[in-house]
Amino acid sequence: MRNLNQDTITQAVLERIANTPNPRTKEIVTSLVTHLHDFAREVKLTEEEWMQGIQFLTKTGQMCDAKRQEFILLSDVLGLSMLTIALNHDKPAGCTEPTVFGPFFLEEAPQYELGADVANGAKGTPCLVSGRILSLTGETIPGAKINVWQADEDGLYDVQYVSPDRIQARGILTSDANGGYHFKTIVAEAYPIPTDGPTGDFLKATSRHPWRPAHLHFMVEAPGYERLITHVFRADDQYLDSDAVFGVRQTLIADWPQQADGTYTMNYDFVLNPIAKKS
Ligand code: BEZ
Ligand code: FE
Repeated sequence: MRNLNQDTITQAVLERIANTPNPRTKEIVTSLVTHLHDFAREVKLTEEEWMQGIQFLTKTGQMCDAKRQEFILLSDVLGLSMLTIALNHDKPAGCTEPTVFGPFFLEEAPQYELGADVANGAKGTPCLVSGRILSLTGETIPGAKINVWQADEDGLYDVQYVSPDRIQARGILTSDANGGYHFKTIVAEAYPIPTDGPTGDFLKATSRHPWRPAHLHFMVEAPGYERLITHVFRADDQYLDSDAVFGVRQTLIADWPQQADGTYTMNYDFVLNPIAKKS
């Protein structure tokens, strides 16, 4: 294979990978090469632009460490994370919808009794959160593991502080005998995703804001049901229609009314999808 040109090089690469033994790998790399080449031809990619792209991806990789995953952030603002979720969670109507996981989950969150204050000193206005964990047929699910996490009133998760002295505004609870849960926390506020890396440069270059509407993260797990990773959003937020990571779903928006004493409340029931039995 010699003298390849812009019209023949794609087929040459596809022939070179034709013996990929794993069929799924072959399908993915074949499509990737085809789309990548078509993209370069379509925009008539210059060598300077190709180098700019290489430098952008290099910077993205260099920004990653144990606490920062810039590639996930980039995937989020490109809508690829939500597209992948949409492609893989075709749940029956009535199930709570999933949304982005985000980069601020912490494996080793503290375990709390129901009713405890998971804020643990995080700055913000007090909020009481409650609800039930249900099956699609309306039965309550006791013993479900409920992981919650959120940003404080300054829009920062505990892990974003330079030297966090304790775990705040996150915790693990277990639903009671009636499938119920309740805990104290602080009210969720809108916050900008980190913009000090290449993802921020991308947002700026495309005239986009970095804000996420106020939300509380939930991960709910119970035996016999699919794990649910989702948020509950505040109905009064100004960014619901322009979430920087495209994660808002109408069914995940709830009222967070403020009571006479200034405390907020939020009540939300989660409906889990049963794991399909293998026949
Ligand atoms: C979050 O909600 O924590 C989040 C999601 C995607 C990107 C950045 C933050
Ligand atoms: Fe978040």
